[in-house]
Amino acid sequence: RQKVRIAPSILSADFARLGDEVRAMDAAGADLIHIDVMDGHYVPNLTIGPGVVRALRPLTRLPFDVHLMCSPVDGLLPAFAEAGADILTVHPDAGPHTHRTVQLIKSLGRKAGIALNPATPVAALDHLWDDIDLVLVMSVNPGFGGQAFIASQLDKIRALRARIDAGERPIDLEVDGGVNVETAQACVAAGADMLVAGTASFTGGPDAYASNIARLKGRP
Ligand code: DX5
Ligand code: ZN
Repeated sequence: RQKVRIAPSILSADFARLGDEVRAMDAAGADLIHIDVMDGHYVPNLTIGPGVVRALRPLTRLPFDVHLMCSPVDGLLPAFAEAGADILTVHPDAGPHTHRTVQLIKSLGRKAGIALNPATPVAALDHLWDDIDLVLVMSVNPGFGGQAFIASQLDKIRALRARIDAGERPIDLEVDGGVNVETAQACVAAGADMLVAGTASFTGGPDAYASNIARLKGRP
């Protein structure tokens, strides 16, 4: 079985103890920290700004996987890059000029990701393949943690795996939403190599984090 990386979403962390939560996830074997940024406009929720990212940055060396559910998004990118984001992932339907947005992310020296909502087809990536580092498949409608996995997205993951393997460049294939031990297995079988997990990472509190991460990686 291929090696899968786990990115706990701190949306499910205890916000009153956010620094401790990030340190605990690092110690528990997380591979990246997934940071969900919501603007109350593109999605009906508000979460984390660049100030919080900056405050967390000294606490871990894990990459910060910043998922921007924001429209417009371009004006926010420099602040998140400066705050310590390693990957900046945007939604192509959040603005009219996604190619320009991707060039901006690259000019900031960060990895560029594109997130596809359940309704967004793979064709949204047609003009972007040469420039992106990551594709994020949303397996829930963005906006909240704790929603149920939408199984129709497995076909999209398979199609993306085939397209990525047919290309020359390494591109990460990440799945986000409703990932638990069962759906994780289905995602990896379909070709995912990165899994975001909020609820499933943080359930049970700090003493459970290491076993939560191990189980998501397919270890008993
Ligand atoms: C949803 C976010 C997800 C969310 C995942 O809009 O993008 O990252 O936190 O949470 P779970 O794993 O609980 O579905
Ligand atoms: Zn996310």
